[in-house]
Amino acid sequence: MKIGILGGGQLAYMLSMAASPLGLSTLCYEPAVPACAARVTDVITASYTDVEALRAFAQQVDVITFETENITPEIFSILAEEQHKFAPHQNALLVAQDRLLEKNCLNQLGIATAPYEAVDSLASLTEAAHKLGYPCVLKTRRGGYDGKGQSVLRSDEDLSQAFASLGSQPLLLEGFVPFSMEVSMLAVRDQAGTVKTYPLVANTHHQGILRESSAPFEHSALYQQAVHAAQKLLDHLQYVGVMAIEFFVVNDQLVANEIAPRVHNTGHWTIEGAVTSQFENHIRAIAGLPLGDCSARGYSYLLNIIGEEPKLQPLLNIAGLHYHTYGKAPRPQRKLGHVTLCHDDPLQLEKMRKQAQALIGV
Ligand SMILES: Nc1ncnc2c1ncn2[C@@H]1O[C@H](COP(=O)(O)OP(=O)(O)O)[C@@H](O)[C@H]1O
Ligand SMILES: [Mg+2]
Repeated sequence: MKIGILGGGQLAYMLSMAASPLGLSTLCYEPAVPACAARVTDVITASYTDVEALRAFAQQVDVITFETENITPEIFSILAEEQHKFAPHQNALLVAQDRLLEKNCLNQLGIATAPYEAVDSLASLTEAAHKLGYPCVLKTRRGGYDGKGQSVLRSDEDLSQAFASLGSQPLLLEGFVPFSMEVSMLAVRDQAGTVKTYPLVANTHHQGILRESSAPFEHSALYQQAVHAAQKLLDHLQYVGVMAIEFFVVNDQLVANEIAPRVHNTGHWTIEGAVTSQFENHIRAIAGLPLGDCSARGYSYLLNIIGEEPKLQPLLNIAGLHYHTYGKAPRPQRKLGHVTLCHDDPLQLEKMRKQAQALIGV
């Protein structure tokens, strides 16, 4: 069986490595050169507007999944002429691609979010800001990632500049959520509809980019809320594969922030820290195989390598540290890799965390 992956970045790279032990191969489709996944699998290098190349890709694979969220309905319809199996179904991506559809979907299902208003002019922005109050967060409805395409508004004076910089496209204004922390849940649903969930993960961001994740974040009431939300959402979307849901924690209540219809950076620790990694479970789900156990093996800490890579030698002297480079050219604010630390004893893990942070320069 050959799995087609739209995108050839680090997620496709880690998905491909997870497919191999199961005897499955992957073929990626990626416009950018060099593609991270090319280190371990075949990649078709072509633009997303190249109809012939898209068709050739679809003909060669048994199912199509994606690691990037920038796949348009037009691309799906070209692919569907040759290959009808998409997992997850493209509808899940269409919802997750648009922050307005995403928030509407969550609210329909009774999953709490920040209050929000669609905005398409300076007048509607002003009205929405007065309704939601300051501070509030203006975001592009589509295409934002790693904190890009958003701006925190603190008073009327911020409105026109924020609208000038983002307003060439449809926007969403959100009330600012006074969260105490951010957590995420990785969940996976198989073709028969079974949903399994990983433990909650506690996340910290720096300049809009995920910096670190710790798992499991043990809080049974929040975990139950997250499981409930994940079950409803994945069932509603008839979802197949891994999905991530990001939440804010406000007074022991979860407020959903956004969903990612794919494997997710806050789940990278599962490669070493869970019985079955998010990558393997995504592959299992889309290939029609039984899901693996999502339990954590001890405690894990994930630290992203951002902008430049550290010296490997001293880091690898930390027992229990796993280094993952994505083999990408260094660039400020770019995710180049991650380290995962695992230990049965949280106090030992804390010591290892400090050593790794000192070497990586956090
Ligand atoms: N409504 C909000 N209230 C408070 N903080 C927010 C809000 N929306 C986003 N943030 C902060 O910005 C980060 C990035 O926003 P997010 O919507 O997750 O976009 P991205 O797609 O870039 O990850 C969040 O993880 C959170 O720290
Ligand atoms: Mg986010």
